[in-house]
Amino acid sequence: MVLVERDRQLALLSHLLRGCPHDAGSVVVVSGPVAVGKTELLHTFCEKAAGAGIRFLGAAVPPARRHQPFGLLGRLLNGARTPYAQRVDAAVTDTRRTDGRVELLVREAVARVFLDLSAAEPLLIGVDDVHHADTESLQCLLHLARRLERSRIMLVLGDQDRTGSAHSELRNGLTPHVHCRQIRLGPLSRDGVVALLAHELDPRVAHRLAPGAFAATGGNPLLVRALAEDWQASAGSAGREPPFSLVVADRFAERVVNCLHRLEPEALALARAVAVRGEAPRTGREAAPAGTGGTGTRALTRLLEGSGLLHQGRYRHQAARAAVLGDLDSRDRAEPHRHTARTAHTVDDGTRRRATSRAAGLSAAEHRVGSLAAQGHSNRQIAERLCITVSTVEQHLTQVYRKLQVKRRTDLPVSLRLEEARGPAFPRSAVPQVRQTVCR
Ligand SMILES: Nc1ncnc2c1ncn2[C@@H]1O[C@H](COP(=O)(O)OP(=O)(O)OP(=O)(O)O)[C@@H](O)[C@H]1O
Ligand SMILES: [Mg+2]
Repeated sequence: MVLVERDRQLALLSHLLRGCPHDAGSVVVVSGPVAVGKTELLHTFCEKAAGAGIRFLGAAVPPARRHQPFGLLGRLLNGARTPYAQRVDAAVTDTRRTDGRVELLVREAVARVFLDLSAAEPLLIGVDDVHHADTESLQCLLHLARRLERSRIMLVLGDQDRTGSAHSELRNGLTPHVHCRQIRLGPLSRDGVVALLAHELDPRVAHRLAPGAFAATGGNPLLVRALAEDWQASAGSAGREPPFSLVVADRFAERVVNCLHRLEPEALALARAVAVRGEAPRTGREAAPAGTGGTGTRALTRLLEGSGLLHQGRYRHQAARAAVLGDLDSRDRAEPHRHTARTAHTVDDGTRRRATSRAAGLSAAEHRVGSLAAQGHSNRQIAERLCITVSTVEQHLTQVYRKLQVKRRTDLPVSLRLEEARGPAFPRSAVPQVRQTVCR
């Protein structure tokens, strides 16, 4: 696959690798927002180096393994010779921790194994998705990283921008060392978008589509490629003229959702809240949306803007917003308790439910919360669905109980249960129409 706008970074990596045989080891953290091409850069570089005969050990950390102590080290040493793997095994067995840290003796023993490995020939170690690494492996890697200045090892780490603390330990812990570099990746520039499209499509078409593609993606390469695929799929449809302008369709929607699921949970929660509300909550004026765990809304918004998904707190393209809402809807379908509202009752009992609310004097917000509670949703689920905090849900419910003179949610009147939640300013029922209107 062609890599656009990464020549400078590849040249720097190659330059650093050339120092290894001369005892000038290095550490490089390839960092950046979601889906801007950290993995692609790391793979391209490591593949080329391994192809040129450099000894290479590599591992990526799947999110599911993040809590397995020393899981990352184990994966890395899969590619090492048995005696070395056995030495690491022996070092980490019965590990004790002091102040929550793997003790120095163990970290030192693990580092020694890698340094010994590099005695015979230079060693390139590549670890992707280090933000998912278990803390034990991370501590050992950090210890090794600090010792590489006069070694024959180059360590390259792929690290997504996140708000977690293990993450900042990695970056801050390495910054003071001269042999440690950071390569910051961001989305592609306007020219980069043209170049990427021109690689996939006819260059004239690429030039024509590029401004729209840049506006819709902010240069996020995953999304730009999706737009090229959408255009090709449409151009390939039997009996149709190739479309003149940008096509924003299924591939784009899929990749937007793919991007979302690469994010840390708090950023995912914010991305969903922005889709429902239409824009990011303004700090200070509104409470943080549920699921963001109090993490600064502004910091999370910046992460999403950095990836090209959002621009000034809003989705760059309505189809992206619709895709996120569609994903929320399918999540509702996968968890039946979330969609009781749409399937349990087909009776149109609007008159009766409006009468109940009016008679009881419920506000619109109280009605929405009360209706979801009557349908069996927990406070947390209601908060997630309406993008408000759990404490706001509790306050509304207290008012609902008082006004309807009931003590618990099981006593809420049946008529309330018939109500479909009407929270989002952008109704989910509008998603198919939005897709139809914006996808051509
Ligand atoms: N420089 C590039 N030129 C062309 N396409 C690219 C480039 N970088 C990335 N891509 C495309 O974007 C996709 C996403 O890239 P990649 O998975 O490397 O992102 P990432 O930064 O590692 O994401 P994550 O934060 O989830 O780890 C790739 O599969 C590739 O199709
Ligand atoms: Mg990656």
